[in-house]
Amino acid sequence: MQLMRGKFITLEGGEGTGKSTQARRLAAHLRTRGLSVLETREPGGSAGAEAVRHVLLSGAAQPFGSEAEALLFAAARADHMDETIRPALEAGHYVICDRFIDSSRVYQGAVGQVDAELLDALEAVAIGEDLPDLTLVLDVPTELGLSRAEARGKADRFEREGLAFHEAVRTAFLALAENSSRHVVIDARGSVEDVTQRMIATVEARLFPAMPARPMLQEGQAHE
Ligand code: TMP
Repeated sequence: MQLMRGKFITLEGGEGTGKSTQARRLAAHLRTRGLSVLETREPGGSAGAEAVRHVLLSGAAQPFGSEAEALLFAAARADHMDETIRPALEAGHYVICDRFIDSSRVYQGAVGQVDAELLDALEAVAIGEDLPDLTLVLDVPTELGLSRAEARGKADRFEREGLAFHEAVRTAFLALAENSSRHVVIDARGSVEDVTQRMIATVEARLFPAMPARPMLQEGQAHE
């Protein structure tokens, strides 16, 4: 029997937009639909990619420039794709990934000035045809995001950049999402629950237009 391929959802956005929390909450929602969901993240998500994550986020690769960092993100992504994401999709699981190719487009491309043709070529090698089915871009005003990220403690190589860098990141994510049917911008201000509800509404409308989610049954309530 041919398994139905799972759907691939990515969450993107600047620092402190709440992606990791929201990825977990979106996964929990999809599980209430009876779906099997794999949660993963970049850079990382496979043994090889987690090793490269440390090199990138510690700042060890920074002296070699944005192009070298782009190569390392792509190498990590290729391993993540081969070892984790593609096998899960082929086995029918839904995959939710905290950051993916659009982070390279924004941080290394738009902000780091790496040539778009090089990024296209790296993307082709790393992911082939496996583009996400849906990308949610979580958006908050830059200063709010940075203050949330600072509250988490020790800053990584990218969080250490200044306000102008992070403003450019936000602008570039919004520009990517414009005129793209794959991306939806989610207003990530307000309570965690409000943001989750906005995200769920988008995912339901995009991925399950003909199959509204059943409300969760309360204990003691009978199935029809
Ligand atoms: P995070 O785990 O807090 O999201 O940190 C990952 C950092 O790595 C974040 O600052 C964005 C950056 N990044 C890139 O620059 N390019 C990429 O392709 C990815 C996946 C992440």
